[in-house]
Amino acid sequence: MSRTALVTGGTRGIGQAISAGLKQAGYKVAANYGGNEDAAKACEEALGVRCFKFDVSDYDAVGAGITDIESELGPIEVVVNNAGITWDGPFHKMTQEQWQKVISVDLDSAFNVTRQVWEGMRERGFGRVINISSINGQKGQFGQVNYSAAKAGLIGFTKALAQEGAKKGITVNVVCPGYIDTEMVRAVPENVLESIISTIPVGRLGKAEEIASMCTYLASDEAAFITGATMTVNGAQYIAG
Ligand code: CAA
Repeated sequence: MSRTALVTGGTRGIGQAISAGLKQAGYKVAANYGGNEDAAKACEEALGVRCFKFDVSDYDAVGAGITDIESELGPIEVVVNNAGITWDGPFHKMTQEQWQKVISVDLDSAFNVTRQVWEGMRERGFGRVINISSINGQKGQFGQVNYSAAKAGLIGFTKALAQEGAKKGITVNVVCPGYIDTEMVRAVPENVLESIISTIPVGRLGKAEEIASMCTYLASDEAAFITGATMTVNGAQYIAG
């Protein structure tokens, strides 16, 4: 029987490509979204995945969403913590709201979701947790103290949780995309983006599908021995040691 996968922020950008990749690989996919109804409808129609609306930064809303998904599609065996936002600005102008919003959507969400599927994964002796971090969580980025902190947090979260899941058949890994051609990256001022692209040795933005294929692999049975790993997919823009 096919496994059920939850992709947070799964109806747009990188998340949509991950939903599509998992669906193609035979998973029952629940694509979570926060509010963009048009994108969710388009995703359901184009990909044939079920979309579920809830706020990943709200623990109780996540719990209710997981109950709905599991009653419709069965136990969640694969989680991709992908939902994330940016709210860029230099630190000397950063407000507390700007800090807290990014930390809660990009980092607290991984706790809110993973914690509420974890016990089921432990009981069943199988699970795949894939966290979507960023090159900017590895190297830091001017104007993204909030985002870089949240994304670096996901790397620590992964390394600790992988050790706890290991004996229960649960792998926990983190993928660090570089600059990928999505709405989020296209929102960076054009001149700034051009100068960023000039630092990518491969000479272009990445494609969302290039992140999705990594996630599909990490979700597979063949990837059982890969856990606690940081998978860099960035066109050699930053080569972590
Ligand atoms: N390094 C050093 N100095 C920089 C700089 C940089 N990368 N970027 C800007 N500055 C300097 C400017 O030259 C300017 O200096 P002066 O005051 O001496 O002239 C100063 O910082 C302020 O610059 P701005 O007036 O442009 O400040 P701003 O408030 O309008 O905007 C910014 C600053 C929002 C950070 C803007 O530079 C920006 O958007 N940078 C891109 C941030 C980025 O990479 N975001 C990624 C989004 S996509 C994503 O996050 C996905 C992912 O995972 C990769």
